Amino acid sequence: MKKIIAGNWKMNKLFSEADDFFDAVVEYVADIDSLNNTEIIVCPPSLYLELSTDYTIDLPIAIGAQNVSQYESGAYTGEISPQMLSTMGVKFCIVGHSERRKYFGETNEIVNMKLRNIQNAGIVPIFCIGETLSQRENGEMKDVILKQLEIGLKNVKILNNLYIAYEPIWAIGTGKTATAKQAQEVHALIRNWLRKKYGNKIAEQTPILYGGSVKPENIEELLREQDINGGLIGGASLDENKFMQMIKKAVNITK
Ligand code: PGA
Repeated sequence: MKKIIAGNWKMNKLFSEADDFFDAVVEYVADIDSLNNTEIIVCPPSLYLELSTDYTIDLPIAIGAQNVSQYESGAYTGEISPQMLSTMGVKFCIVGHSERRKYFGETNEIVNMKLRNIQNAGIVPIFCIGETLSQRENGEMKDVILKQLEIGLKNVKILNNLYIAYEPIWAIGTGKTATAKQAQEVHALIRNWLRKKYGNKIAEQTPILYGGSVKPENIEELLREQDINGGLIGGASLDENKFMQMIKKAVNITK
């Protein structure tokens, strides 16, 4: 299985900073002889998607959006459709991030609509799930995760084109990373659920990323776990040097 380094900028960076980031990262990636089965994804704010796809054209850096409308087209002021992303050369889209669930009222049902629609437009979803600290402490983690999977993936047909990101909410932006063992335990739970529901092939080919305070110092340990296929990285992906360090560490790991 490949290793994935995915950066989620969230609502950060001015235009000139986005430009500086790509200047550095594009040059770095172009000079790497072999990526050793490492996939690089950057998810900038939508306004910079065109800049980002232009910069990375012909390079092994894929661009993802951070959000998309659950509708296909029409009178939805301010929204961006899956098809629009696809025609801009966008390959991935984060769906169901905990910040969207928390601040913008995204339910499991809305997440499900988004997952179904974006796949029809040829975009690969990075489907985020994860529990809060109180859910974990109350022993509800497993139920929460399985419910997010069950409802989120209801009637989702294109299963060979799906990425899942496990992001424990208590570890996002807090500096508190789940230990590699804690993350692996939930990744195995997710993979077993996929296996039971869709069979071995889908379970083995679905990348499961970990997100929550991933940084150059902990990426290797996380990636060495059997069911952790990559990182969805917020804060540390904003700094081009840290992002490049994480690419380097992933390239040096053979799984
Ligand atoms: P973080 O964010 O790396 O800043 O914790 C991860 C995410 O929310 O995707």
